[in-house]
Amino acid sequence: MLEQCDRCPRADPLIAEFSRFLSARTGLHFPPERRADLERGLAAAARELGFTDTESCIRSLLASAFARPQLETLASHLTVGETYFFRERRSFECLEAHVLPALIRSRRAGERRLRIWSAGCATGEEPYSIAMALARAIPDLRDWNVSILATDINSRALRQASLGSYGDWSFRDTPAGIRETYFVKTKDGRYQITERIRSMVTYGYLNLAEDAYPSVEGGTNAMDIVFCRNVLMYFEAAHGRRALEKLGRSLVSGGWLFVNPVEISHMAVPQLSTVNLPGAIVYRKGIRLPAAPDGWQAPADHGVANEPPEMAPQGRQEIPIAQETEREEPKIATQTPYQRAAALYALGRYPEAAE
Ligand SMILES: C[S@@+](CC[C@H](N)C(=O)[O-])C[C@H]1O[C@@H](n2cnc3c(N)ncnc32)[C@H](O)[C@@H]1O
Repeated sequence: MLEQCDRCPRADPLIAEFSRFLSARTGLHFPPERRADLERGLAAAARELGFTDTESCIRSLLASAFARPQLETLASHLTVGETYFFRERRSFECLEAHVLPALIRSRRAGERRLRIWSAGCATGEEPYSIAMALARAIPDLRDWNVSILATDINSRALRQASLGSYGDWSFRDTPAGIRETYFVKTKDGRYQITERIRSMVTYGYLNLAEDAYPSVEGGTNAMDIVFCRNVLMYFEAAHGRRALEKLGRSLVSGGWLFVNPVEISHMAVPQLSTVNLPGAIVYRKGIRLPAAPDGWQAPADHGVANEPPEMAPQGRQEIPIAQETEREEPKIATQTPYQRAAALYALGRYPEAAE
């Protein structure tokens, strides 16, 4: 039995091999200090998969390159599902005070469409918080085509999320009034999210370590905003970088990525720039401008910092998208191609700037 194998010389290489295998399939990283978590989760998964001991479960999984049902069982025992409504509140304050108003303003005149993805949504508190933020920010929400996709590798968490029933612990740092406005207390003492908010979110299984995204069929393309918070911190670095790069490709040009900055500060992704909003750092998909001619100065206030997170200047109060509609048309005919691209970029007209 592997559980008794602290003194067993066969256990460590087998666990180490399984850990590498797991990382390749799920991105999940179990460094030595989390070995006990891995062994505990494996023991529980082995019991659920019908094995009498963990070692034969591992050997069988390694031999069969496990299929999705087995992967789902492992995920339910080996992932960390910690979450609550409006977690890291400053992210939501930035979303509501800066990112959404600017996006809404720029879309209101044309196609009233918003696409948002919560990648690694656990039991749903994050995507429902986004839905509540949208309900607060868009009074005429019914006239908008808003989609919130929420995905996770843990199918059990997804099932729970789609039920929309929560205990007190999920509200441990929730702003005043949220529970009263968007939930109904049920006889069992839990809180049921209102149908209006519940129906705004679509749940689906997605393993961020796979290459299934971005994809038009899977609905993971052309996102305006992606939340992937407290997920990549559990990934092995190379897998985290790959996932981040794919999430970047899932965004529209000018789209926003919310992560927990500590989890990706060591993973610079060329297509993403850091933007310092009051109280939070958010990432934004920019465009690559051609190399600037000697002596050329970038527009001072385009607001997108290209430094890695630790280098980005702190305390910037404005974000560029809010200025999109207020700026003057650049005098394009008299400009060099580079100046024209930079001027269009400063206006937030990214696709044209990229041409
Ligand atoms: C700590 S929770 C974060 C929940 C939420 N994003 C938040 O910040 O409150 C991490 C979630 O990432 C999910 N996860 C871990 N590995 C994943 C993978 N390879 N693909 C998709 N989701 C994954 C876990 O199942 C878990 O639900």
